[in-house]
Amino acid sequence: MKKFLFTVFISVSFLLKSFADEGMWLPLLLGQQVYSDMVKKGLKLSKEQLYSINKASIKDAIVIFGGGCTGEIVSNQGLIFTNHHCGYDAIANASSVEHNYLRDGFYAKNKGEEIPAKGVSVQFLLSIQDVTTQILDSLKGLSGIERAQRQARVLMNLNSKYSDATQNIEARISSLFKGNQFLVFVYQRYKDVRLVGTPTESIGKFGGDTDNWEWPRHTGDFSVFRVYTNKEGKTADYDAENIPMVPKWFLPVSIKGFKDGDYAMIYGYPGGTNRYETSFGVNQKIDIDNPTLVKLRDMRLKYMFEEMKKDEAVKLQLASSYAGIANYWKFFEGETKQLIKYDVFNQKKKVEAEFATWANGKKEYETIFPEWKTAYENWRPFSKHRVFITEGVFGSPLMAFASSLQQVEIALVQPGKKPSDVKNAIEAASKAREEFLKNENKISDQNIVGDVTKLFYQDVEKSQHPIDFYRAISSVHGELNDEQTFKKYAAFIFKNTFILDDEKWNAFVANPDAIVLQNDPAFAHASAFLVNYQNKYVAKFQQFNIKNNELGRLYLKGILEMDSVKAKKMYPDATFTMRVSYGNVKSYRPRDAVFYDYVCTMSGVLQKYKAKDYEFDLPENLLELAKKKDFGQYIDKQKNDLVISFITTNDITGGNSGSPVLDAQGNLIGLAFDGNYEALSHKIAFDKDLNRTICVDVRYVLWCIDKLGGASNLINELKLVK
Ligand code: ARG
Repeated sequence: MKKFLFTVFISVSFLLKSFADEGMWLPLLLGQQVYSDMVKKGLKLSKEQLYSINKASIKDAIVIFGGGCTGEIVSNQGLIFTNHHCGYDAIANASSVEHNYLRDGFYAKNKGEEIPAKGVSVQFLLSIQDVTTQILDSLKGLSGIERAQRQARVLMNLNSKYSDATQNIEARISSLFKGNQFLVFVYQRYKDVRLVGTPTESIGKFGGDTDNWEWPRHTGDFSVFRVYTNKEGKTADYDAENIPMVPKWFLPVSIKGFKDGDYAMIYGYPGGTNRYETSFGVNQKIDIDNPTLVKLRDMRLKYMFEEMKKDEAVKLQLASSYAGIANYWKFFEGETKQLIKYDVFNQKKKVEAEFATWANGKKEYETIFPEWKTAYENWRPFSKHRVFITEGVFGSPLMAFASSLQQVEIALVQPGKKPSDVKNAIEAASKAREEFLKNENKISDQNIVGDVTKLFYQDVEKSQHPIDFYRAISSVHGELNDEQTFKKYAAFIFKNTFILDDEKWNAFVANPDAIVLQNDPAFAHASAFLVNYQNKYVAKFQQFNIKNNELGRLYLKGILEMDSVKAKKMYPDATFTMRVSYGNVKSYRPRDAVFYDYVCTMSGVLQKYKAKDYEFDLPENLLELAKKKDFGQYIDKQKNDLVISFITTNDITGGNSGSPVLDAQGNLIGLAFDGNYEALSHKIAFDKDLNRTICVDVRYVLWCIDKLGGASNLINELKLVK
């Protein structure tokens, strides 16, 4: 019997070899799809322990943290670990120039010291159900816009059927395989979340944007939170009387260490991939979309950074927004390079040619690629314009807010306008204005507006410019080939707009008038670009989108049909739903003659250290203890050093940040926080040799909390595996 099983294992794993460590697997299908391969790689847990519908299992310790990250429960009192860059906004919000926790770090020594993280919530996954048949039945025979609209309605209705606002239960249906499968994920949201601990920014963001998306990496990218419930253990809004949550499951933490090749798996919420992107899509990304985005973000970041450097308060004000813009600026820059380097365009062409051969003579599928080509050709001339709108014109915070005043304009000019509509629109705008002003830095924003206006003029096809817009600028402010003209124009806007002037704004609120609004230079600017885009290009984009989605759905339907055995072992693209990835801790060779070890150590932190540097400074107490090699029980005996971070072959992407990295027994060994530069094309094409996930070692996390932070209260809460 044993021997028989053994041979079965071998043949199955042989079949699966082609998967390498690619795959973001749905937890409910792990047992069927890949369990035997996981065991072969080293897993020591049962199917039931990985995921169970009836009993508590690992999945119950995994949360959606905030809007786009993952976190994990690590104690029986609702303690949460996530990344520093996931807690960043909450940490910055809790900070002031007097109590600068972002800069100086913070550890609560008892629960009374924990700081409410306003606006941060966590969500636990309650259940997953397949509703494919029901949805596809209701879409039968429909295509194009009709299908898209019906689908949106059906999903909305089902979402509300599975949701229950009184219990904070929210259902979200995820469309998988581009609309060929639908699963409903039901979550419960917990809104009382508190900041428990964070290292100094110099540790939590060590290496900054220079090291971002790269290995070797020496960042202590972690922060600590806690989720609270009411006295009955139910989800509740913040209340001082609330108690720490008693979770269904929490992760033990291993400080035993590991070696190159050991099993590693990651649970979490990968945000989005497009592994079936077409050659046309790859082309457009490389040629237009990515370079335009990178150029515009480059410019915005430059102006923001200039002001952040000068003033601690501005730094706190802009830090979180800056980090977000910078993160994907570097991502898209790297993605373009890797797509070109690995010739992903021709990889896709090859796959598409195989599909076309199979589709030949099959009416439903045979025209997919010619139709796709046309759809892209029709949209391509306007694509740069669209990126300029989203990343440029409305990348200015002032203009983003000004564009929202379109709602006020509509309320004011609509025929038979109702006073209540105007009142509501004005109230909403005043509230939004307060939020906008909190984070507004006028100097950087004015520079951004001036530069974007110039770049739009230079880069976007003249026939697409808002009519008369540039002529009007030049008639007042000077020649359009002179940079000064745009600087003067932006200065004029910032000096005169009522949005930045409380007195004028209050006068407008007291007596709202369409003409006053329309003559405001900031509103007029935002409106010129917005209306031009809305009137001439939005419909084209929608048309393209609907066609692209429709063809994507057919393409995937065909792929699933082509080989039904293989189809059963396919994983769907990431959709910010819970997935599991399994693989190994693994060193690699990024290029000829270069070897990258599987861990980074404290010695490397000290090598990178630069006193007073914006990205590579370190706190005194770290330097002191590190030089003495005072690593206590957290030392790695093999390396005789403190391990800072490590790399694994797991398949993850943005959204997975903060995800637990588990060993073969399901113990926490680290937190995933990044991907490597060599595999930045991973959203579109997984590279089985070079793809790595970068993880902060949990022993470094505990050393920071314990030795630097003196928060033994937190260490005592954990279930340590030694
Ligand atoms: N690249 C990381 C991710 O997307 C975020 C790293 C944050 N650090 C930084 N220096 N921006 O998950």
